[in-house]
Amino acid sequence: MVELAWQALEDSIINYRGLPVGTVAACDSHMSSLNYDQCFTRDFAVSALAFLMKGETEIVRNFLLETLTLQSWDKRMECFQPGQGLMPASFKVVHSKNSEEYIHADFGEHAIARVAPVDSGFWWLVILRAYVKASNDWSLVHSAEFQTGIKLILDVCLTTRFDMFPTMLVPDGSFMIDRRMGVYGYPLDIQALFYVSLRAARELLKPEDEYIAVVEERLGNLAYHLRSYYWLDLQILNEIYCYKVEEYGITAINKFNIYPDTIPEWLKEWLPEPGGYFVGNLGPGRMDFRFFSQGNLMAIVSQLALEEQSHSIMDLISVRWESLIGRMPIKVCFPAIEGRDWETITGCDAKNIPWSYHNGGNWPFLLWLLAAAAQKTNRIELGYMALEVAASRLFKDKWPEYYDGRHGRLIGKEARRYQTWTIAGFLVAYEILNNPKHLDLISFPEDTVVIACSQPLPGFSG
Ligand code: GLC
Repeated sequence: MVELAWQALEDSIINYRGLPVGTVAACDSHMSSLNYDQCFTRDFAVSALAFLMKGETEIVRNFLLETLTLQSWDKRMECFQPGQGLMPASFKVVHSKNSEEYIHADFGEHAIARVAPVDSGFWWLVILRAYVKASNDWSLVHSAEFQTGIKLILDVCLTTRFDMFPTMLVPDGSFMIDRRMGVYGYPLDIQALFYVSLRAARELLKPEDEYIAVVEERLGNLAYHLRSYYWLDLQILNEIYCYKVEEYGITAINKFNIYPDTIPEWLKEWLPEPGGYFVGNLGPGRMDFRFFSQGNLMAIVSQLALEEQSHSIMDLISVRWESLIGRMPIKVCFPAIEGRDWETITGCDAKNIPWSYHNGGNWPFLLWLLAAAAQKTNRIELGYMALEVAASRLFKDKWPEYYDGRHGRLIGKEARRYQTWTIAGFLVAYEILNNPKHLDLISFPEDTVVIACSQPLPGFSG
């Protein structure tokens, strides 16, 4: 099965002027391709890891070089052009009439609902850092073009904004969940990726660069904010349950004015003991209690989660195995939003009906992160259990994009087959579980600088 998966991954490769530069999102000839014939930056991150683990660095190098030329470098005030520093959501190789090849990039202006990707630049940094770890090609990273590319991404993230949290404010659907799903504001998946990319950037910038101090400061504040205010376990739920509201000024305990009545009924029974997780979103008057897998798993792998928190998340996954993994690893988020909430939050999105697709569907590509988190926390048996569940179905089902149902028993209603990141996610999980060394490509050690820079929000007591 592993050999066939490698073959399927090779089949997804896109060439440009004779060189491999990426992988298509899916190779399903039975469904309309829409934009699934393109190379998505976030999807390619998983392919890139698979290739790097196999020692194939060339395709990743080419991808990085090509996408760097697609990055928007000009300072633009015009709203219909991508802003400076943005990386495309996806690109495709187009053949002109005189059979010349050129690359066409999409910054979201063609995507369904015109969603702009906030995560592309982050994934680009993750890929670059993994590439240099695997290849030691520091001359590429230290070239003037790459240093500029890195700093342009940082400029977009660290610039002045309308708010004063260390977290990043984004619109709905600006990352892997690229449809209306109530993930606007400060979604965990983006915050964890932001943290990872800042850590990557700190390693990738030349040691004397003046951006490093700024990156370190933000890393510390971001880590503090997420570790303190996003964390939820039974003890904290008890505190929230008894919160006083409308507190003003620096002595406020309920810093974000969360009303205890917003605690959903399902959570009161579902939250295990022991076990905990980072909530899905936190902003003024709003705590989204849903569990989002990508953000939580990435927090473990990147060491954003404190050691105890990492173990608590794995405990939660283990105790709530049926709801989070069931017949296919792993739910993109839990639980689904239903009824009137589904109508108002998704805009009656028929693709995101309860327990389908982004709304509580099971996404096998996330297996790679689950395996990495299992390896990182020495809970390797959980990784193998998940891999086994996936292996029993993925090949037979032709590598679907996602699965539906409370326990992921059904192949996704509109799932593409031969979805590349499903294939790559399986391979990366397999490689990481069998060789812990591979974890180095994506994980980070504990960081004393981050801890030294940590501080609560101004005017807030920690
Ligand atoms: C869907 C997913 C998105 C993914 C793309 C290509 O739009 O929501 O996360 O990048 O398909 O696979």
